[in-house]
Amino acid sequence: MTTIAKGLEGVVFTESKLTFINGTEGVLTHLGIPIQEWAEKSTFEELSLALLDGELPTAEELAKFDAALKANRAIPDQLAQLIRDMPKGVHPMQALRTAVSYLGLLDPQAEEITPEARRTISVRMIAQFSTIIAAVNRTQEGQDIVAPRTDLTHAGNFLYMLSGKEPTAEQSRLFDIALVLHADHGMNASTFTAIATSSTLSDMYSCMTSAIGALKGPLHGGANEAVMDMLDEIGRPEKAEAYIIQKLDHKEKIMGVGHRVYKNFDPRSRVLRDYAEHVANKEGKSNYYQILETIEKIIVDRMGAKGIYPNVDFYSGTVYSDLGIKKEYFTPIFALARISGWCASVIEYSQNNRLLRPDAEYTGQTDQHYTDLKDRK
Ligand code: ACO
Repeated sequence: MTTIAKGLEGVVFTESKLTFINGTEGVLTHLGIPIQEWAEKSTFEELSLALLDGELPTAEELAKFDAALKANRAIPDQLAQLIRDMPKGVHPMQALRTAVSYLGLLDPQAEEITPEARRTISVRMIAQFSTIIAAVNRTQEGQDIVAPRTDLTHAGNFLYMLSGKEPTAEQSRLFDIALVLHADHGMNASTFTAIATSSTLSDMYSCMTSAIGALKGPLHGGANEAVMDMLDEIGRPEKAEAYIIQKLDHKEKIMGVGHRVYKNFDPRSRVLRDYAEHVANKEGKSNYYQILETIEKIIVDRMGAKGIYPNVDFYSGTVYSDLGIKKEYFTPIFALARISGWCASVIEYSQNNRLLRPDAEYTGQTDQHYTDLKDRK
């Protein structure tokens, strides 16, 4: 008897030294270091480098990496033109997917798959994702593309390119924390997709384009935008309870809760909730915050025993919203952070590559013969 692992749940197909998750305890570490410490003490740049190299960098290595990211922020003119020419109203994830694929056409090194080439391309893509996403936002709004600056952090420069205004140090740091929280998360669907593509010895641009496609769906990265759609649909805090109870009674899914691995609070959602709470205490509770508070309470009460708790996407939208970012850009921002995990995981897997080729239990007919078209009913 073949046992089918639906959704590949529980299937271990490789080893990795990057990320550890204990879903029962709600623990997440990168290189053995808890996510809370990365969020509190590190930066997106440092975590990206640590993931790519598998160890904490020295100050000198980090400075070199930071300089390389800054030097690679600009995107080719042809790509900027493609972004300007994109139809109005496209979803920014469609735009990102197309732009990254096109970036591969413009990179003479694109087809190289040596470890060195994969790493060099990774650094370029980590730098350029943010410029692409900001450029899509600007052009879709009918505004000029804002060129990157090299005197700002990765997070600060993205916010600057998005709005054309220099963010405050607090805004940059907050966005940096959000990027740190999303940079990697083990064998999630998009990372697995990137690895599946690389396992055929395909190039980095193909890997990242496939990963973007996988992240886009509402069961994965698209959930943060779907949470905001839900909050907008609920509208007022006093309507939240009835809305959620009705959904649960009809066995409908609530966006931003539940997780394949976590059967407890997702530690990343706790960090983001703390921020949302901090803003609420400082500036008064927004409608969004009050609705989320109500939903969280109901979910924990009614679904906690089943292991359903808020995930990282539950509070991330309110954080981005506080930064003035539109909800269509929440999933691209996820990609802007997760590119580091995708690249690092592809590089790690490539060191001991084996083609990914699972199987399916055949349940179709047997012993059939071809019937000519004219004889078919
Ligand atoms: N709301 C209500 N019930 C839920 C939810 C939810 N969000 N998630 C799971 N459940 C229930 C299911 O209805 C099912 O109940 P049943 O046993 O009575 O049929 C049970 O919990 C198991 O659910 P599955 O969907 O089989 O669990 P799976 O591990 O496949 O799902 C997933 C994980 C896809 C994330 C799911 O929880 C979900 O759809 N969540 C909403 C979308 C979301 O927030 N995605 C973001 C995930 S985090 C990330 O990718 C960054």
